[in-house]
Amino acid sequence: MGKILVLYYSKDGNTKKMAELVANGAKQIPDTEVRLKAVSEATRDDVYWCDGMAAGSPTFLGTVASEMKKFWEDIQPEWQKIDGKIGCAFSSQGGWGGGAELTCQALLTIMMNFGFLVFGVTDYSGHQFTAHYGATQAGEPRSEKEINACLRLGRRLAEWIAVYVDGKKEQHPLNGHYKRNSWDK
Ligand SMILES: Cc1cc2nc3c(=O)[nH]c(=O)nc-3n(C[C@H](O)[C@H](O)[C@H](O)COP(=O)(O)O)c2cc1C
Repeated sequence: MGKILVLYYSKDGNTKKMAELVANGAKQIPDTEVRLKAVSEATRDDVYWCDGMAAGSPTFLGTVASEMKKFWEDIQPEWQKIDGKIGCAFSSQGGWGGGAELTCQALLTIMMNFGFLVFGVTDYSGHQFTAHYGATQAGEPRSEKEINACLRLGRRLAEWIAVYVDGKKEQHPLNGHYKRNSWDK
């Protein structure tokens, strides 16, 4: 059973909508349990519980919102207890080019600091649209490719947990167990 925490901060709801899609993407993989929690609700035990985490924050001043960083500073998990979990990131920005990929990188850096194994998604979720460093968005996800990027991020997290934590090699995305989009190379 893969255990996933989708952890987010959202001031105006856009990152929350991304988080819901990421959680739904993760649920596409059988035997995956998902906890969807805002930083105001999540605890250190949620972090200990999960096999992997998708962390999301709006882009504020080109980086992670202070509320998300404070969550990590406050819970102060014991490093030895969360080494080797799998992590990925997502962010909503005001407009394209507003820094959401920088925010994803900052989120990945925080997770790396605690020993997470972090990843991006190589697939294309639509024409000229990827989530190489995490799912990024201007405002809320509306178009099919924007929605698909969030779904694919969550699904990929669940796939990696199935493969690397639960030993289900058949869930490896390169095994072709699901149809890739026509945009996928
Ligand atoms: C304090 C503050 C700083 C922001 N800084 C940026 C920024 O650097 N780049 C950007 O594209 N948008 C910026 N925005 C816009 C938010 O990233 C954007 O509205 C986002 O969709 C909010 O996500 P939320 O609805 O989950 O709170 C900023 C908004 C606020 C309130």
